[in-house]
Amino acid sequence: MAQQNIYDNDKFYENFKGLRSDEINFNDIIETPIITAMLPDLKDKKILDIGCGMGQHAMQYSKAGAASVLGTDISEKMLAFARENNSADNITYRRLAFEDIEQLDEKFDVITSSLAFDYSEDFALLMKKIYALLNDGGHLVFSMSHPISTAYDGVYDRYTRTEKGERLYANLHNYGIEGERHFKWVVDDYEVYHRKISTLINCIASAGFIIEECQESTVPEDILKEHPDMFGGVVHQPDFIFFRCRK
Ligand SMILES: C[S@@+](CC[C@H](N)C(=O)[O-])C[C@H]1O[C@@H](n2cnc3c(N)ncnc32)[C@H](O)[C@@H]1O
Repeated sequence: MAQQNIYDNDKFYENFKGLRSDEINFNDIIETPIITAMLPDLKDKKILDIGCGMGQHAMQYSKAGAASVLGTDISEKMLAFARENNSADNITYRRLAFEDIEQLDEKFDVITSSLAFDYSEDFALLMKKIYALLNDGGHLVFSMSHPISTAYDGVYDRYTRTEKGERLYANLHNYGIEGERHFKWVVDDYEVYHRKISTLINCIASAGFIIEECQESTVPEDILKEHPDMFGGVVHQPDFIFFRCRK
């Protein structure tokens, strides 16, 4: 499938915008607290946020005292939302696919990415390109869908359930077969790439990074109790994986 730009599809964009804007959503409740806790001090740092989407993280990093934040994304629609809703003097947005990220002719202290690398066909090359864009001692901190989650190939339900529909356990199918995954999510043919955990680690290490921290998503107990239908799967399988890597 190589490069795709599903976020510029009207139906997909509207659906994602709705989900991302809900008060209770996976990004704000699960992803953001974990990645935030893993970030180095951002004060006066030059930051690149790859796959910045609607700019919520760029705004967060701007408010945390970054010297500058450059948000890049492939989607015009996502960038238009970001420019309108998450602008600040120290934030710039630019349309640029991460496959072409080497076109940036500057270096950064911190490179971040939230839930965008699921769409990367060549993760090894992406890690090398990002390594080259970092200043010495700089950090790459990113999240992506967890390999247990990306293994899903649309064939079986993600969970085995009781007759009432409660999740009993997660189903894992074809984890060992890496590559494209196609299934129905808003659009009929939603596409991501599946890689094993060992592949992620080996790509990061081969690029030259030191892995300082890895996290797998969990949900706070009170949120789980309040929203079991939405987050109940997380006790069986982590949705997201996070890495903090140093050059
Ligand atoms: C799940 S959204 C996450 C957006 C944002 N980082 C956030 O946390 O809300 C994934 C983003 O990755 C972007 N994306 C997908 N493929 C890309 C590519 N090849 N190059 C750059 N951005 C890409 C999408 O356009 C989308 O904005």
